Amino acid sequence: MSIVYLLLYVILLFLEPINPCRVEECAAWFQKTKDYENLVPKATERYCQVLQTYLKCMNDTQKFCHGNLRFHSSELVMRRHWKEFECEKWESCNENQMGLKKKPVNTCYFNPPPSSRKLKYCSLFGDPHLIMFNGSIQTCSEEGARPLVDNRYFLVQVTNKNVRGEALTTTVTKVTVLIRKHNCSSSLHYEATSDEEGLPRGFVDGTTYQAKGSSSNSVEVLWQDNNYVEIALHFIHSSIHIRRQGPYLSVSVKAPSIVLETEGDVANEMCWAGCRRRSRIAAETAVEEPKKFAECYRRRVHVPKKVAEDRCRNVGTSGTFFDACIFDLMFTGDDYLVHLSRNAQSDFRRLAPHHFQSQIIQQRVRQQQEHNRNLPLNSTQVFDNCLPNSSSFSKSITNCSALLAIFLILIPIL
Ligand SMILES: *[C@@H]1O[C@H](CO)[C@@H](O)[C@H](O)[C@H]1NC(C)=O
Ligand SMILES: *[C@@H]1O[C@H](CO)[C@@H](O)[C@H](O)[C@H]1NC(C)=O
Ligand SMILES: *[C@@H]1O[C@H](CO)[C@@H](O)[C@H](O)[C@H]1NC(C)=O
Ligand SMILES: *[C@@H]1O[C@H](CO)[C@@H](O)[C@H](O)[C@H]1NC(C)=O
Ligand SMILES: *[C@@H]1O[C@H](CO)[C@@H](O)[C@H](O)[C@H]1NC(C)=O
Ligand SMILES: *[C@@H]1O[C@H](CO)[C@@H](O)[C@H](O)[C@H]1NC(C)=O
Repeated sequence: MSIVYLLLYVILLFLEPINPCRVEECAAWFQKTKDYENLVPKATERYCQVLQTYLKCMNDTQKFCHGNLRFHSSELVMRRHWKEFECEKWESCNENQMGLKKKPVNTCYFNPPPSSRKLKYCSLFGDPHLIMFNGSIQTCSEEGARPLVDNRYFLVQVTNKNVRGEALTTTVTKVTVLIRKHNCSSSLHYEATSDEEGLPRGFVDGTTYQAKGSSSNSVEVLWQDNNYVEIALHFIHSSIHIRRQGPYLSVSVKAPSIVLETEGDVANEMCWAGCRRRSRIAAETAVEEPKKFAECYRRRVHVPKKVAEDRCRNVGTSGTFFDACIFDLMFTGDDYLVHLSRNAQSDFRRLAPHHFQSQIIQQRVRQQQEHNRNLPLNSTQVFDNCLPNSSSFSKSITNCSALLAIFLILIPIL
């Protein structure tokens, strides 16, 4: 008898450290589930389900929790909720479901919220300037449609177009957002074009939200005015921000890295891969050497540097956005682009995670130091890939026609 007792005691000794009071685990699970699904303590079936699982978790561990104050107080609160919300009325059918081990089909569960370190930010604005997920900043002059971000949850595609009739001045004129079909959303399509009066208030099908979650919208269009709209994908903690100024659009994307990871190639996504090499513009050098830049690319200096600097400082841009603003204003003279830089800056400050903001700031300081070390620019040829002069252009045509002539002469012989 005493041996049996001893054996039991030894077993308990072994069990104790492996299976102590798990009240913290139960509470953590409850809190997480509540947060993910935006559950509020109310008399709803889902809340009662979650409450029941929680109480079961507590009940399973109660014999290890004697004298644990946290255990007793939270159990008390939850039991009170259980009574107050009359959760028994749902209990029987829950039991049935559990008994049958029937998994809920196509249930929308919100992703766990990411830590701010895991959040990524990308922005395309102005003439255009690109802030990539890895913090690189580029100015480029691509034309045509390209994906900015593309993953299994959503696609953001931008169309860049030459709007000013000058060489190499392109801007975003169309933004297409495709939300892919998911347990939390049907397939949705949003489209903004710069030649419309304002940004659309909803998706192409006329809806403005999806309510697949138990209590909150999984996806919604948050329209502020004709010039600003946010498309929020709450279930993956991601958002797409579109702005409009006159004939220009800009777009910013914020998303956790787990959402952005794709099995596929990211080489085509601008936020990961950047602009195509040959379309990149050395914007800092252009601002330093506007005459050479204008000659090389057959552009015009519309506003002198000094004036552009004053204007851009006055609207409150700084850092990277100040640089972008000056470049755009000098080479287009267009004040819409000044506002677009300022708006891109306010989105960046509001939305980009703090570590990313300081990365961008530090990086600019380093680049400027490097740039100043290399001054004065020794350059007959500061810029690559200059556009051919009209004279050399016609020369190459004559060259071509010479070739053609030779060919035509040869035909009869052959
Ligand atoms: C709590 O656990 C005991 C056994 O430890 C069990 O008899 C009882 O039914 C459980 N209660 C609930 C509500 O699960
Ligand atoms: C949709 O829900 C089902 C069942 O809950 C799950 O198996 C599936 O992986 C979910 N699909 C997605 C895209 O999350
Ligand atoms: C960011 O990625 C691009 C494209 O892969 C690369 O060229 C660039 O060096 C990267 N920048 C940083 C800061 O890592
Ligand atoms: C810049 O100038 C220095 C001397 O002034 C010369 O050695 C160097 O080759 C030049 N670099 C280029 C890219 O022309
Ligand atoms: C184009 O013409 C300008 C003067 O008109 C000249 O300075 C420049 O070198 C020329 N560029 C090319 C590529 O021929
Ligand atoms: C075209 O013109 C260049 C000089 O401008 C010359 O070197 C080349 O041989 C010409 N090509 C042909 C096919 O005539």
